[in-house]
Amino acid sequence: MASENIIEEKKQGQALITEKKAGNHKKLFIESYGCQMNLNDSEIVASILADEGFNTTHLLEEADLVLVNTCSIREKAEQTIRKRLQKYNRVKRINPDMKIGVLGCMAERLKTKFLEEEKMVDLVVGPDAYRDLPNLVKEIESGKDAINVILSKEETYGDVTPVRLNTNGVSAFISITRGCDNMCTFCVVPFTRGRERSRDPKSIIDEALDLRDKGYKEITLLGQNVDSYLWYGGGLKKDFKNASEIAQATAVDFAKLLEMVALAVPQIRIRFATSNPQDMSIDVLHSMAKYDNICKYIHLPVQTGSSRMLERMNRQHTREEYMTLIDNIRKIIPDCAISQDMITGFCGETEEDHLQTLSLMEYVKYDFGFMFAYSERPGTLAAKKMEDDVPLETKKRRLSEIIHLQQKHGLFRMEQFVGKTVEILIEGDSKKSSDQWMGRNSQNAVAVFPKSDEKVGDTVMVHIEDCTSATLIGRRSFD
Ligand code: SAH
Ligand code: F3S
Repeated sequence: MASENIIEEKKQGQALITEKKAGNHKKLFIESYGCQMNLNDSEIVASILADEGFNTTHLLEEADLVLVNTCSIREKAEQTIRKRLQKYNRVKRINPDMKIGVLGCMAERLKTKFLEEEKMVDLVVGPDAYRDLPNLVKEIESGKDAINVILSKEETYGDVTPVRLNTNGVSAFISITRGCDNMCTFCVVPFTRGRERSRDPKSIIDEALDLRDKGYKEITLLGQNVDSYLWYGGGLKKDFKNASEIAQATAVDFAKLLEMVALAVPQIRIRFATSNPQDMSIDVLHSMAKYDNICKYIHLPVQTGSSRMLERMNRQHTREEYMTLIDNIRKIIPDCAISQDMITGFCGETEEDHLQTLSLMEYVKYDFGFMFAYSERPGTLAAKKMEDDVPLETKKRRLSEIIHLQQKHGLFRMEQFVGKTVEILIEGDSKKSSDQWMGRNSQNAVAVFPKSDEKVGDTVMVHIEDCTSATLIGRRSFD
């Protein structure tokens, strides 16, 4: 979520809280683009810098240090960030003491290019180097440029308590894994976020308990690929010689971690993202079915419905295997919502492949979807070995077809709630009216309903009377 959104929410009267540390005088303006992991990383950065005398500010003009946490996933994401950097530089002309830094994936991808060619920033820090920020900030304060983009095999920031930024006090993120080893051929993440590593379950549980004590009601466990979470003492998986060595080390896998968190904070809703079909186990589905406080919602990106394309994408599963997984989800958790990510126009995609995507969508009827036209990323296997040969017009046409179908399916799923009474966790005012609350049900569907005597963070029963393809419309039920 970009800070523009946050300011917008504030205008609508949302009481968003940002934690501050007493006695801190330096001002940090920090913005995040891209995934939820970046939002959580910014909270880790804010925590590290809080110990160096920085509190966050929403006013760019008064900042001593401006940091932008960046995303490289598609070219457009990088263009957006370049525009922001130009904006910061315009403000810097008025306030020359202001320092500007880039964090995250674009920092990792472009490294010294930012300092040498673009000259738009003073500081470049990759996703695994945030602990070095105190030193790097001292360097830039003394007038030098500073950079650290070293990737790590161990860093999980497990001991850093994030400073919660712009929070409604209800929902919070906990990172459980970092990096990704999957090497999907289109994806830049393995290059920008490095090797996959899992965080000590004890530190995850401690963070969940801390959030509970602070009054939070919902936790989202985050990782690029949460299902491959595996704790056996830290480090990389391949340091073990074989599976039995891993098992002997009393490993905790994702199904077990989910169960541990569900039991540790039974009064808190638990969500997780993102699941990768190739790594999702039946045990995870059983953990979800067993605990009421684990939300019945799985974000399960598939990217394409064509086995041929899946193979070119190095997705490690076929269309049929994915459909079997969907069948298992429906069997084990009948009320589970499922969402997708799709890419249209990947290298070599034919009309037949595209039709396979549409037919897979018909099979699953996803509740939600996040759909993109393929954007070639430098350094990926696809960029090196495959031709980006689907014309832009075709990519866009296919994209609009899948978006259209998704809207139809979204509406179909939402309609299933009409006439039912569902449990809603109140997150804040509805976007359209401060007389209405906005919250979500377990399946992650957004609901709005008129206010009475509830408050943010309450869980209430709401009778759903109507819906759009994106919102349930209801009334509080007191039965
Ligand atoms: N496992 C990750 C995926 C990160 S990327 C997660 O936590 O969600 C998010 C989505 O961006 C992917 O699922 C894919 O649909 C899309 N994406 C990734 N690389 C892309 C590219 N080169 N072009 C277009 N979309 C891309
Ligand atoms: Fe990217 Fe595939 Fe990992 S989409 S984040 S390489 S699971």
